[in-house]
Amino acid sequence: MKLFFHRLIPIAALLAAMGAFACSPYTYQPIRSGENWPDDRGEHINAHGGGILVHDGTFYWYGEHKSENTSRALVGVTCYSSKDLVNWKYEGVALSVSDDPESEITRGCVLERPKVIFNRKTGKYVMWFHLELKGKGYSAARSGVAVSDSPAGPFTYLGSDRVNPGIMAENVTEKDLAYFDALPETPKEWTPEWLTAVSKGLFFKRDFEGGQMARDMTLFVDDDGKAYHIYASEENMTLNIAELSDDYLSHSGRYVRVAPAGQNEAPAIFKRNGTYWMITSGCTGWAPNAARLFSAPSIFGPWKQHPNPCRGDQSEITYGGQSTYILPVPGKKDLFIFMADIWRPRHPIDARYIWLPIQFDADGTPYLEWMDTWNIKEYCIYFRKMRKKKLD
Ligand code: DGJ
Repeated sequence: MKLFFHRLIPIAALLAAMGAFACSPYTYQPIRSGENWPDDRGEHINAHGGGILVHDGTFYWYGEHKSENTSRALVGVTCYSSKDLVNWKYEGVALSVSDDPESEITRGCVLERPKVIFNRKTGKYVMWFHLELKGKGYSAARSGVAVSDSPAGPFTYLGSDRVNPGIMAENVTEKDLAYFDALPETPKEWTPEWLTAVSKGLFFKRDFEGGQMARDMTLFVDDDGKAYHIYASEENMTLNIAELSDDYLSHSGRYVRVAPAGQNEAPAIFKRNGTYWMITSGCTGWAPNAARLFSAPSIFGPWKQHPNPCRGDQSEITYGGQSTYILPVPGKKDLFIFMADIWRPRHPIDARYIWLPIQFDADGTPYLEWMDTWNIKEYCIYFRKMRKKKLD
């Protein structure tokens, strides 16, 4: 009898797993990076620099609406929904730019890299984005925040600002600050002395009272429900990771500087087996460059840099794309989708998307390989490795 039950348990577990697989929402329809991705209306998805919220069995994709001839925001943040990550329904404009010329988000401002997270305590959907005031280039470097009662919006704009004015980052030392007071003058730009000064906080100190600059950004919600805003700061020279308040609508005041003077933007982050991984890009405007990879045992670091995670042809330009988000796929153990934008600055509306499954070395280090097509339903690290072995 005992033996019978021992046999039954693995069989039951297998049947349960098969049942879960049969119920999986994912389809065999392939993901084809770089191609035209039509929505339910047959129009190419217009949600750039975006991110995905998974909520109640639905994926919500938020991104920048791009126009024919300009990358400035003429419409706002769009939202699409999907059950399988392949078929997307247009949900409309989640956050609209304003017709009021006095508004901070007036039509023609720069509104980039929106991300939305859900706050379990308040039941609200919270959107953060990078905001540049109309006609001021990229000098404002502000973070905007908006809130909604439903995932597709409409979101209500709450305001924008620089981050954590007058608050010291947790990893800035007295020694770093003393370094400036000892400097006779600011070194010439891009000299080794200048890079050292930037790394020790040249811009950090300059912006201390008014708040730190915040451009390219992402959000990350940890297992304990705490949320973090990760953004390119200090003239894009240094990243900051800043904890959000419990309602996610402001910053808690806890933050660290990451990769000082490393010139990173486009941060995208995920956590696997207790390690935080972050993929970023260098700073070359709309042109692609090599991705960077960092890891840390805690969200506040210490962050360590690894070699470029991309492999194969065009790995030195991230296959033509720039990171925007990393999506852990529910129900697919170890499937994290690396999402990137192939920008088309001369025809922004036609910018394309790269979605690739992140792969892992034996020691757990993530890496990327280009795939013309792949599908989520079939994707499984174990089977991929077997197939690869057969091909070798
Ligand atoms: C690169 C950034 O990643 C984009 O979001 C955008 O700000 C462009 N630079 C503007 O040149």
